[in-house]
Amino acid sequence: MDLILRENAFLGETHIVTGAAQGIGFAVTESLARHGAQVAMVDLDAGRLEEARSRIEDAAVSPLVVPANVTSEEDVERAVGQVLEASDCINGVVNVAGITRDKRITKKSLEDFNLVLSVHLGGTFLFTREVAVQHWHPLFKANGNEPLDDGVNRFIVNFSSVSARNGNIGQVDYTAAKGAIEAVTRTTAREFAGYRVRVNAIAPGPVNTPMLAGVPDQGIEAMRRSTLLGKVAEPEELAATVVGMVCPKISGYTTGQIFAANGGMYLA
Ligand SMILES: NC(=O)c1ccc[n+]([C@@H]2O[C@H](COP(=O)([O-])OP(=O)(O)OC[C@H]3O[C@@H](n4cnc5c(N)ncnc54)[C@H](O)[C@@H]3O)[C@@H](O)[C@H]2O)c1
Repeated sequence: MDLILRENAFLGETHIVTGAAQGIGFAVTESLARHGAQVAMVDLDAGRLEEARSRIEDAAVSPLVVPANVTSEEDVERAVGQVLEASDCINGVVNVAGITRDKRITKKSLEDFNLVLSVHLGGTFLFTREVAVQHWHPLFKANGNEPLDDGVNRFIVNFSSVSARNGNIGQVDYTAAKGAIEAVTRTTAREFAGYRVRVNAIAPGPVNTPMLAGVPDQGIEAMRRSTLLGKVAEPEELAATVVGMVCPKISGYTTGQIFAANGGMYLA
C-alpha cells in the first residue's frame, strides 16, 4: 500500500474504524495504521478482526481489536470505553460498518428494513454519541464550555452512498439509511463545532468489496459503464479519500460536507 501523506502523519493519534474486518473498512484501517495512527478495529467477529489485523502486523502501531455490534448500545459503550482505556485520546471515528438486504419494496420485510437502518444509521449515531459522551463533551466542559482550540485533530467520517441521491431498486432501506446519514452528518457538524470536530461523509459509487459479491456480473458491468471514469473503484481508492478527510492539512476547513467519490456516476 502506497502512503498518501508523509510517513507517520497520524503518529500519536487514535482512530476508531467500524466494519474493519473486510472491504472498505479494512482498507481504511490499513491506510490509517500505515500513516502511524493507532487504529481500533471494530467489527462483529473477533476471529475475523484478528485475521485482518494479522495482515497489517508490520504497521507502525499495531491496531487494537475491539469486537462490537454497532447496533448494540451496550457494545458501543464498552468499545469506546475500551479504546479510551488503551489510549486516553480518541481523535476520530470512521463509521463504515454496513449491510444490504436487497429486495423490492413489495417483498421487503419490516425486520430487514429495520436491521439495515439499525446497522448503518443506528451504528453511526451510537458511535458518534458515545465518543462525544465519554470523551469530547467532558473535554469541552473542562474547558469552561469554550471551543476546543487546542490544535488536536478531531473528526468523524461517515459513509453514505451514491444511491442516497440516485435511488436504487431493492434498496429502500439502504437508501433511507444513507440519506439519513447525510442529514446526520450536517447536524453533527453543527452540534460538534464547539468540540472542533470536523464531521463529513463520503458517498462512494461502486467499490470492489464483498458487499458487491451478490450483484450479478451484468449488474456490475452496468455500474461500471454508468461512471464517467469507466470503472468500479478499489477499496484502497476510498481509503485514500478517507485519509484526505482525516488529515487536517488537507481538510482542516471542511465540515458538514458530503464528498462524492463515485467516478462521475452522479454529478451534483
Ligand atoms: N461496496 C460498495 O460498492 C459501496 C458503495 C457505496 C457505499 N458503500 C458503503 O461503504 C461501507 C463499507 O462497505 P463495504 O463494501 O466495505 O462492505 P462489506 O460488506 O465488504 O464490509 C462491511 C463490514 O461491516 C461489518 N458489519 C456489518 N454489520 C455490522 C454490525 N452490526 N456491527 C459491526 N460490524 C458490522 C461486516 O462484518 C463487514 O466486515 C458501507 O457503509 C457501505 O454501505 C459501499
